[in-house]
Formats: sequence, C-alpha cells, structure tokens
Amino acid sequence: MSEPRKSVTVIGLGPMGQAMVEAFLKAGVEVTVWNRSPEKADAMVALGAKRADTVAAALDANAVTVLSLTHYAAMYDVLGPAADHLHGKVIVNLSSDSPGQARAGAAWVRRHGAEFLSGGVMSAGSNIEHPASYIFYSGPRAVFEAHAELLLPLSPQEYLGADDGLAQVFYQGLLTIFHPWLLAFDQATAMIARSGHDIARFVPFAVRSSAAFPYFMEQFSVENQNGGWADLASLRMMDAGAQHIIDASAEVGVDATLSRTAQAFWRKAVAASLEAGTAVSTYALMGDAAGDTRAVSGR
Ligand SMILES: NC(=O)c1ccc[n+]([C@@H]2O[C@H](COP(=O)([O-])OP(=O)(O)OC[C@H]3O[C@@H](n4cnc5c(N)ncnc54)[C@H](OP(=O)(O)O)[C@@H]3O)[C@@H](O)[C@H]2O)c1
Repeated sequence: MSEPRKSVTVIGLGPMGQAMVEAFLKAGVEVTVWNRSPEKADAMVALGAKRADTVAAALDANAVTVLSLTHYAAMYDVLGPAADHLHGKVIVNLSSDSPGQARAGAAWVRRHGAEFLSGGVMSAGSNIEHPASYIFYSGPRAVFEAHAELLLPLSPQEYLGADDGLAQVFYQGLLTIFHPWLLAFDQATAMIARSGHDIARFVPFAVRSSAAFPYFMEQFSVENQNGGWADLASLRMMDAGAQHIIDASAEVGVDATLSRTAQAFWRKAVAASLEAGTAVSTYALMGDAAGDTRAVSGR
C-alpha cells in the first residue's frame, strides 16, 4: 500500500514563501496556501497548491503550518484572529526576527495549544535550492525530529538546540556579516566604475581575495574567544587605511559612510587603548557596549 501524500500549509507568499511552496510541490508534498494579499496565491494555485480562503481554513487543512512572513509581528496579525484553530497544530515560523521575538512568539503559540519550531533561512536570496542554502532550526528536538522529513524539501537542515531563539541568534549573526559585506561590495564596485574602470575585471580579484576570509575567521575566532586581539600599531594602521578608502571613494564621488563607520571603531579602540594603557580590541569594545570594556594585551 502506498504511503499517504505528505501535506503542509504555507502562510506568507513573498519571494521566500513562494520558493518554499514550489519546493514542497516539486517534492510531491500537498500544499495549502494563504496570503494577506490574496492575488499572490494565484501563481501558487496554478502550480498545484490549494487555496485557503481564510487563515482558519489554512490552519485546519494540515497538521503543520510553515510561516514565511516579514517578521514575528505579522504572525500575531495573521494567526491572532484564528488563534482558536491553533490547538493541536505545529507552527514552524521561518520568518526573520530577533531571538527575543522568536522566544516570545514560541511562548504565544504554545499558550494557544500548538507546538512551535523557529527557523532561520540561510539562503542565496530566495534561491533555496542553491547548494549553499540551508535552514537553522531551534525549539524542542522531538518536534524538530517529528517534522524534519516533511520540511526537508525546503533546504538542508541544521538543528541547533532547544532554545527557541537560537536559530535567530545564528541567523542574525550571519546576517551581521552579510549586510556590511553587501554594502561594501556596492561601495567598492561604485568606486571602480566611477574611476572609469570595469566592474567585471575587478570582481574576479574580489572573489580571489575573499578566499582569505575563512583564514581570518579562524584566526579571529580564536582571538575573540580570548577577549579579542589588538595592538596599538595595527589599530592606528587600520585608522589610516580607512582614511585611504574614504579618500579613494571621495575622489570619485562615492559615498564612504560605511568606511567612516569602520574608521570610527578603529579610532575608538585607539582612544580606549591610550586611556587603558594597553591595547583594547574592537571585539572587546563591541561586546561591551554597556561600557564594561575589557582591556586586552597585544600579542
Ligand atoms: N527573500 C529572501 O531572499 C530571504 C532570504 C532569507 C530569509 N528571508 C526571510 O524570510 C522571510 C520572508 O521573506 P520574503 O522575502 O518572502 O519577505 P516579504 O517580501 O517581506 O514577504 C513576506 C510575507 O509577509 C506578509 N506580511 C508582512 N506583514 C504582514 C502582516 N502584518 N500581516 C499579514 N501578512 C504580512 C506579506 O504579505 P503581503 O503579500 O500581503 O504583503 C508577505 O506574504 C523574511 O523574514 C525574510 O527576512 C528572506
């Protein structure tokens, strides 16, 4: 006898929710969809998804509902009016937000009698099929294990632990690296273009140099686990280096706000080092935003 078809509900049909519906359908999973702007469901229905006319009907349709919303606030807006349909269900919220919001959201869902998993989608944009894409999950291990197979078409999975906020801690940590990188790439390529040169000629060098990033991450992860590394000469060198980037950008009319922010950190670390009489790392400065800066000696 063949197994019954797996089924799931997807609420939220932005670029990510649509990619998720497509991945489920491709894997043979039956999908029911709901979206605040109903027209976004049309393309999904054309692909084979079932349309729910209300959130209550979407929740009723399946045991597991995946949320792909802008933030956790949207979860309350969407599920709040249908909260009496949550009992006995499983909510997998793959929306981005702070760890605190994820924990509060988990508690809210459980208060309404449903189980909860939180996820952070580490994808190449909305291309969840990209080989580099995967999803962080956190929440009760038993709930994750019970539904991991159903969720597998979305991307490879990294279960992190029982803390409902943990997926967002790791997800936001990685986005903390990604956002400045994205803007730095814009600044660098604008500088190349405004200097009258070819972005396509520059990019292979950017890719080649980025091969050193894992090396730096390994080096600095060891240092940061011990409070961060700094010496005054290199902090001053970074300050001077930031000025060169600012000047190179300004010469061709490119916005150097990002580099000015970087420079402000190097300068703050120089000042803190002079005050402390020993080198203070930018890691220590950032990690002690409340003011309790630990001075760290240079190597
Ligand atoms: N797109 C990506 O490349 C990517 C990559 C990794 C992670 N993510 C994360 O995945 C999540 C979804 O991404 P996305 O790009 O699809 O986001 P999005 O374009 O912001 O759309 C998400 C959905 O949220 C709905 N929504 C927002 N506020 C709402 C509210 N108050 N009430 C009801 N519905 C509401 C929107 O409904 P309407 O259609 O009615 O506006 C839309 O369906 C986000 O948390 C995002 O950070 C996205």
